[in-house]
Amino acid sequence: MVLGTRRVRRSTRIAIIAIGTDLAIAHLIDTVLTQEDPMEALDLTRRRGLVVGIANEHSLAWSAAQHFRNAGADLALTYLNDKAKPFVEPLARQISAPIFLPCNVSEPGQLEALFEAIRQQWGRLDFLFHAIAWARKQDLHGRLIDCSADGFAESMLVSCHSFIHMAKLAEPLLDKGGSLMTLSYYGAEKVVDHYNVMGPVKAALEASVRYLAHELGPKAIRVNAISAGAVKTRAASGIEHFDELLNETVQKAPLRRTIDACEVGRAALLLASDYATAITGEILYVDAGFHIEGMVFH
Ligand SMILES: NC(=O)c1ccc[n+]([C@@H]2O[C@H](COP(=O)([O-])OP(=O)(O)OC[C@H]3O[C@@H](n4cnc5c(N)ncnc54)[C@H](O)[C@@H]3O)[C@@H](O)[C@H]2O)c1
Repeated sequence: MVLGTRRVRRSTRIAIIAIGTDLAIAHLIDTVLTQEDPMEALDLTRRRGLVVGIANEHSLAWSAAQHFRNAGADLALTYLNDKAKPFVEPLARQISAPIFLPCNVSEPGQLEALFEAIRQQWGRLDFLFHAIAWARKQDLHGRLIDCSADGFAESMLVSCHSFIHMAKLAEPLLDKGGSLMTLSYYGAEKVVDHYNVMGPVKAALEASVRYLAHELGPKAIRVNAISAGAVKTRAASGIEHFDELLNETVQKAPLRRTIDACEVGRAALLLASDYATAITGEILYVDAGFHIEGMVFH
């Protein structure tokens, strides 16, 4: 990838001190060297990626898509259904996505059709960004103890198993290895008030990341999750008392602030790139450090 693809001219001023035998002479020589050095750059030129989970311009997946595209990748984007399409279509156009298809992971066959379209058009894939989660309103707002088996299974299917399913469909296309990414939240590992059913579902997603990383590692396919801090998005609006959660972050996080979607996008770009070729099975926190704190006195 990356090194050597962009070059920068560098002027260096060097001082050479020469010491003679008869007399010690210090020569200060100013030399201007002009040389070509490789500049570090996150470059996804000629890479092809799939981004699933854009609902609108506030979506974390949209930020990731913009960063992938700005780094040179070609992207396949999806929309949930006809109702969602008008919000996502202008975004797909903005980044000239050559593949733009519906994808409701609860609809049998839609994921298969999406991957078949990618196979036909590109023949292969380099990375995949999964940013979808869903739970029935009564389960999201109610106690976990009251969650029905059906509701639990539905949330697991959409928010967790869909990532496993996508990994399976992507595996044959990732012929040169690649990067699979998903989004999690701190509520996977510690109790967060009002996160309810999504807590155990995200815990299962994080465990799936590790098992998939283990299984796909020998094919140079990396699997990671970004555990993002709270950001106001459409999905976040379904969580009760979300503003309190944001306030708590500002109070407690080492950086004393919330994060923005762009910071998630940048981390996603890193994980998709060759700068992360040795990172797999990881939960990468992009949360202003919130997760390291235990007891904090305000
Ligand atoms: N916003 C946050 O504070 C935050 C923090 C940590 C993790 N996350 C996670 O980030 C991911 C993206 O959420 P977001 O905050 O960007 O909100 P968002 O509402 O923009 O994105 C959620 C996406 O899930 C999609 N989706 C829901 N059901 C689906 C289905 N059956 N099939 C296909 N797609 C479906 C929606 O269409 C939408 O695009 C989610 O996994 C969420 O849990 C969000």
